Amino acid sequence: METKKLLLDMDTGVDDALAIAYAIGCGAEIVGVTCGFGNVETHEAVRNTLDLLALLGRPEVPVSAGDAGPGGQPFQVSEACRKIHGQNGIGNVSLPHRGEPSPIPAHRFILEQCEKEGAALTLVCTGTLHNLARAVRESRETVAKAGGIVLMGGALTVEGNVTPYAEANIANDPEAAKFVFESGLPLTMVGLDVTLKQRLTHETVRGWAVRGEAGKAYAALAGYYIDHESDRGSCALHDPLAAAAAIEPGLLDTHPFAMTVLTEGEGRGRTVARSFPEECGVRNVSAALEADPGFAGKLDRVLQGLFARLDRKGGE
Ligand code: RIB
Ligand code: CA
Repeated sequence: METKKLLLDMDTGVDDALAIAYAIGCGAEIVGVTCGFGNVETHEAVRNTLDLLALLGRPEVPVSAGDAGPGGQPFQVSEACRKIHGQNGIGNVSLPHRGEPSPIPAHRFILEQCEKEGAALTLVCTGTLHNLARAVRESRETVAKAGGIVLMGGALTVEGNVTPYAEANIANDPEAAKFVFESGLPLTMVGLDVTLKQRLTHETVRGWAVRGEAGKAYAALAGYYIDHESDRGSCALHDPLAAAAAIEPGLLDTHPFAMTVLTEGEGRGRTVARSFPEECGVRNVSAALEADPGFAGKLDRVLQGLFARLDRKGGE
């Protein structure tokens, strides 16, 4: 498989951490990670990202911080999020703090990389669309040079996970999401429609715990998430599926829609498809309606391989 260049944009909680490991394990080239608010505050997302990249043997990957919140206001992380992802966002697993963020703001870093890498680059957004919206507002033309944009967010055929209608990444900044969805830029939407069906179990993560420092940390943070994300004895693989789809688009069955995001009333944060011909603008959003049911097994194989390689390297 050809090496993919990815720019990850995230609110680094547990499933974002799994996405980073999956991308590294697949041999993707991560040109940088831009961080924002959501599961944690922006500065916590930056710290988690730096610590995880160091743990996974990639301390050189640049990490940029975005704004502290939408509309110039600081973001308040919900109690539910602190419970689901742990107080520190990574299942209360304590990692040594390593590295410093880049001085370049997240949206500028996105623009720089789109300009530099062009069609070779895929943007993978697994937090709000705030940083991407800022980049598009500054230069849509530059963002359009990227080869693709894959986002984890939204719910088209299923209920939301923070309200009956809205999924968390969209609900945390609906105005940014609406702007990006209506920008006409080609987007691949990996929503709850597909991510809720991809489940990770304790049985799987137990196998990681014996694979060195990184395996042990990931077993602990994923184990915490499994216990707190739902009461089903398993957790959804939201963000890793988006990263995987950027690397291997064939994992998804998608359908093109013209979409928007509601920003008012009880439907605030709802992703809506316009399906009638007279309502249809540009069908720029390829929404995933099905995904490879074998993805959780694949993620296990990729992460086991990565942790084993890191363990061998650590012992040399
Ligand atoms: O709704 C799930 C999404 O919200 C995931 O990206 C999770 O990390 C949170 O950001
Ligand atoms: Ca996320």
